[in-house]
Amino acid sequence: MVFETLHASQLKGQRPHRTDMTLHYAVFGQPIAHSLSPRIHAAFGAQLGIALDYRAIEAGRAEFPHALDAFAHAGGRGANVTLPLKEDAAALCASLSERARRCGSVNTLLREGEGWHGDSTDGAGLLRDLRERHALDPRDQRILLLGAGGAARAAAFALAGAGAGELAIANRTHERAAALAAALGAPARALAWSGLAEAGAFDLVVNATAAGHAGATLALPSTLFASDALAYDLSYGRAAQPFLAAARAAGATHAVDGLGMLVEQAAESFALWHGRRPDTAPVYAALRG
Ligand code: ATR
Repeated sequence: MVFETLHASQLKGQRPHRTDMTLHYAVFGQPIAHSLSPRIHAAFGAQLGIALDYRAIEAGRAEFPHALDAFAHAGGRGANVTLPLKEDAAALCASLSERARRCGSVNTLLREGEGWHGDSTDGAGLLRDLRERHALDPRDQRILLLGAGGAARAAAFALAGAGAGELAIANRTHERAAALAAALGAPARALAWSGLAEAGAFDLVVNATAAGHAGATLALPSTLFASDALAYDLSYGRAAQPFLAAARAAGATHAVDGLGMLVEQAAESFALWHGRRPDTAPVYAALRG
């Protein structure tokens, strides 16, 4: 299957699609050509008999506000937003859901009147993937979160809200981990990056750093993983591999990437736009295959 990727500049002068019944959606980001979102939403639409057009639109931070305006003018009803635009998207919205406001990041936009309503489905996608696909309910679990950027924030609020027993946050730049832990309150606490070897054992270790995108491997002490622990990378594909390999080498029983989270956050966005929740199992299986 081939999906067309537009560059933001190609949106200029596009006419509104008022004459057809197709619903228009897009994912904005940079880079975006390899995004799986168009394929996922096309599969959801086919499954539920909803005619929709979902494109990938390449836009950097400088181009994004205009590109989003042009998309709305051309009839865009909703959009997903990915790196590096999630915080910018939150700032552009006329209204925000409570969970988007809390984590300061938006991955889902809904057109409401003349403005955008922003929501964040990343945390819900993570929880659903953990519970349904990996049999892990965060309640009362000992959890270590690596990273304190935008992706980590969404994960941290979701895990804390799901009743994590312990939520230790370690980040290369300690101040960011401390700020995130302070924003969350108990049971979150910041942990020194250099102190991981003395941090004890965890049931779930979530990698929310961008290290793997640069091919960098994190040094994970063998004391980090409790028996039967799950190592989870929020990235998927190649970017997740350095962490997953390091986690297995350090004794993690299970190590999975975030492909399931990607499909689940997409389903959550889809349900917000269309009022119906797709079955994610066949779509996940097709992507995994
Ligand atoms: P995202 O939206 O993907 O979370 P981000 O907000 O830029 O992107 O955050 C990137 C995260 O990855 C940060 O926690 C960053 O650590 P710093 O706060 O110290 O910058 C972390 N990160 C990036 N490269 C890393 C590396 N090589 N080793 C460890 N952490 C890294």
